[in-house]
Amino acid sequence: LDDGREDIPHWASFPEVVAELHKLRPMRMQRGFTVFFTGLSGAGKTTLSQALDLKLMELTGRPVTLLDGDVVRTLLSSGLSFSKADRDLNIRRMGFIAGEITRHGGITICAPIAPYRETRQAVRDMISEWGGFFEVHVSTSLEVCEARDPKGLYAKARAGIIKEFTGVSDPYEAPHNPEVSINTGDVGVEEAVARIVHTLQAAGYLA
Ligand code: PPS
Ligand code: MG
Repeated sequence: LDDGREDIPHWASFPEVVAELHKLRPMRMQRGFTVFFTGLSGAGKTTLSQALDLKLMELTGRPVTLLDGDVVRTLLSSGLSFSKADRDLNIRRMGFIAGEITRHGGITICAPIAPYRETRQAVRDMISEWGGFFEVHVSTSLEVCEARDPKGLYAKARAGIIKEFTGVSDPYEAPHNPEVSINTGDVGVEEAVARIVHTLQAAGYLA
């Protein structure tokens, strides 16, 4: 995972290692899972992920790891740009960590923009190898995100001060079949968290 190539290898490149890890996995370990938020800047990913984090800790008593896009960019992927290659590398790094936590029976919440469908699919494949993967599309419209503009980034993007800004001058490929879709323009935080919890329960990951 050390450069921006688009054909970055992952676990699929190590079938013997994967087979061995599956054998070693304790039978009675609780199954891990990852909730993966995706959506535009300002859509509500951070807010929902923090509320879900609290709810999952409360419901399970298990630790929950929250990998927010802004935090990962500061503490793990600092130095990466917002080019397609760097966004993909950033998301694959996040996916690798989430996959490792999932493999060990943990609960992870990811909250990046993750604008590319193919990259999200690669992360889904990587994590599904080890446990549950739930994609939550925070589908709040560009108009609403831009009206909120909590960090003033849309204004800067429109003024050309920030280049390659998602939704303005860079693509966002909406998911076709997310496990959950939430438009925070219409749905409040509590209701959104309840929908995700219900989905996790229906899939057998929560009691
Ligand atoms: S990505 O595309 O998944 O790698 O993006 P991510 O790592 O989640 O980082 C998104 C946060 O970076 C800030 N920011 C930008 N976003 C989009 N495009 C450009 N050009 C950009 N420059 C800075 C912004 O604060 C994003 O945070 P959120 O929470 O999504 O608003
Ligand atoms: Mg955020």
